[in-house]
Amino acid sequence: MSPSNGVQAGLPQVGDRPRVVLGVAGGIAAYKGVEVLRGLTESGHDVTVVPTAAALNFVGEPTWAALSAHPVASSVWENSHEVSHVKLGQQADCVVVAPATADLLARATHGIGNDLLTNVLLTARCPVVLAPAMHTEMWQHPATQHNVSTLRARGIIVLEPASGRLTGPDVGAGRLPDPAAIVAAVQDVLRRTPTSDLVGRRVVISAGGTRESWDPVRFIGNISSGRQGVELARTAVSRGALVTLVAAHLSVPAPAGVTLRPVSSAAELLQEMLAAASGADAVVMAAAVADFRPEVVATSKIKKPDESSDMSLRLTQTVDVLAELVRRRDGVLPVIVGFAAETAVDGDELAELGRRKLARKGCDLLVVNEVGRQVVFGAEENEVTILGHEGTHVQVARASKAAISDAVWDAVVQEWKHALPLD
Ligand code: CTP
Repeated sequence: MSPSNGVQAGLPQVGDRPRVVLGVAGGIAAYKGVEVLRGLTESGHDVTVVPTAAALNFVGEPTWAALSAHPVASSVWENSHEVSHVKLGQQADCVVVAPATADLLARATHGIGNDLLTNVLLTARCPVVLAPAMHTEMWQHPATQHNVSTLRARGIIVLEPASGRLTGPDVGAGRLPDPAAIVAAVQDVLRRTPTSDLVGRRVVISAGGTRESWDPVRFIGNISSGRQGVELARTAVSRGALVTLVAAHLSVPAPAGVTLRPVSSAAELLQEMLAAASGADAVVMAAAVADFRPEVVATSKIKKPDESSDMSLRLTQTVDVLAELVRRRDGVLPVIVGFAAETAVDGDELAELGRRKLARKGCDLLVVNEVGRQVVFGAEENEVTILGHEGTHVQVARASKAAISDAVWDAVVQEWKHALPLD
């Protein structure tokens, strides 16, 4: 089974299924918690739901009990002979709270244990994922933002809320991340031995493929799905990083917990990357950026002059975003990682092409993959070599794009150690 596909071999397990506590706080998005519960149980997790008393105003106890096949309690005074306020947290492999309201974030930050869910959070020694949902004003309030920073500094994964329609007619940041993305975030933290080596790090990833317009309805594009960049973002979130994903036309959903910056063309991608890279600890260029764009972009749709005439399009080079990021770097950070898609007859030629590209781009690491013989674009798996300066290289045998992403972050962590040995 692929590692991003739910239950994995080698997971910490109780019985034969990973044990997850799903906390549900009292917000309208509690109804979406039902979908998170379905997603978790259907992908083989043993889920105990701990709603707060307020959450039960939105979705009642019978729904949680029926769908989880476990008794449901929200107060420490229920089932007290089982000491559930201690056992649930201690025995869980992961605790996820969806939705996490402003009130729940505040109580978690301050170690308040005034109901079963906050007691579970105090006793849990496993990874904890909080999926906030609240009105934009509450999310942006300095108290909430301070609480989120404190929780993240402790290694708790606080997903970025999504933006969009809120409870009423209002629109803004504060929507619960997509339930499927929350389930994926839980699967991801369960997939590995808990590691939070990216806590406090700010990373920027580009993903997808740019489109270069030549009139209002036509463009030159490429077949990149954005899957590798999305996996890099997802794994970085689960290792505790603050992630900005600069996304050019993804054909897979963006993961929960990232700050999303949608772009279209190479020029837009350059602007967003330069802005996001300032103050970042690492930048990974996984996007397939067009090397050429039409020299002229027509303002109205270009018409065929007649049935038989051909047309030609004059192209001009785009900026090399990766090289530009390297050129503008001031100091040792951010660590800059490039990707290289090469066609080569054998491993030696591939390594040689990779070495030349690493030298040309000047980045710290280059993730090289062969695109001639194997399907890479849009595929679930890949096989790469991570080249570093001074001739270092890490070979990653055929693996899921999530596992390759972890290998990239491992290499970035090594770069930080070399760059700032006293950090
Ligand atoms: N890249 C970039 N800006 C461009 C083109 C590529 O930042 N205009 C980045 C890609 O995101 C990738 C790396 O450069 O991280 C290498 O991309 P690749 O397509 O393999 O190489 P090119 O620079 O386009 O060179 P060539 O196609 O000639 O091999």
